[in-house]
Amino acid sequence: MKALILSGGKGTRLRPLTYTGAKQLVPVANKPILWYGIEAIVAAGITDIGIIISPETGEEVKTKTGTGDRFGAKITYIRQDQPAGLAHAVKIAQPFLGDSPFLMYLGDNLVQSDLSLFIQRFQERNLDALTLLCTVPNPTAFGVAKVDEEGRVLQLVEKPKVPPSNLALVGIYLFSNTVHNAIANIQPSARGELEITDAIQYLIDQPKKVESFQLQGWWLDTGKKDDLLEANRVILDTLLETDVQGKVDENSQVIGRVKIGQGSQVVNCTIRGPVTIGSNCHLENCFIGPYSSVADQVTLVDTDLEHSVILQGAKVIGVQQRIVDSVIGQRAQLSVAPRRPKALRFMIGDDSQIELV
Ligand code: G1P
Repeated sequence: MKALILSGGKGTRLRPLTYTGAKQLVPVANKPILWYGIEAIVAAGITDIGIIISPETGEEVKTKTGTGDRFGAKITYIRQDQPAGLAHAVKIAQPFLGDSPFLMYLGDNLVQSDLSLFIQRFQERNLDALTLLCTVPNPTAFGVAKVDEEGRVLQLVEKPKVPPSNLALVGIYLFSNTVHNAIANIQPSARGELEITDAIQYLIDQPKKVESFQLQGWWLDTGKKDDLLEANRVILDTLLETDVQGKVDENSQVIGRVKIGQGSQVVNCTIRGPVTIGSNCHLENCFIGPYSSVADQVTLVDTDLEHSVILQGAKVIGVQQRIVDSVIGQRAQLSVAPRRPKALRFMIGDDSQIELV
């Protein structure tokens, strides 16, 4: 079995963070989202992995992620010149996939469950496609499935106005090689893309064996800011282990599960976990509250923060009000004069959002 991870796309819903990088590399608890997917795939026993990359962000994905050695996998990068749809990505990956069955994984998805359960079901029941489903409150934002009592998929619709159920398609699928014939027989959708949902619908109509598996545990699609904060909260809650390598002075208090990377200095701070702090950071006179992730080389002085993600190289100085539910981009600077400021002076990137609440 092989795996195909899709890591292209423009990440429009995560702008401005994605102006300078791939959405799949945005960190969750200080690790790129994409890497959680690679690790889950390797843990399920698949080590031959293809990653679809785009011309815009592909080099960055390749440079950061590497050959696969660090994951115990062999990674082949496949360039998709146009974002022409998920089924189009499978089409261009055909030389890599050959006749092998494969797991397809959308690189901005995170699931709690062990992928091997899903693979086992696919193999035992000798299926042509297995879709992973999860009940959601807002099915119109996803591909939606109608299934019978035995879990056989009857119908799939992409972002329906009137959803046939509240079962969303999670961005993880298993296919036999019959999917290639299905893709060769479908036409681009109204938005001009070759949709994977149409290819699966083609398999259902054949009829081929298409079943579904309902996900237990959480599923996160990290496409937007609040989803990213939620993913950060869930990962810190479930996976973070205490590991303090940096220097914490005697005036500081570190409570609960907290990770602090090498070369970081914590002076006169209270850190209440779960919190992860990267390496070579400087934190002074701060309160860092639960569900915060601070990336490498960040400076935080006289700052009060919780449930927020601070990316690499950012500086936050003197912000008296608590910063909550916030994402601060790489190298961004936020500072307030020591005296009560009389004016606000900004240099804010395109599509940024500032809320003084
Ligand atoms: C894609 C799929 C959709 C699926 C979703 C899961 O949508 O087209 O069927 O439910 O991923 O993340 P996108 O996120 O690209 O809009």
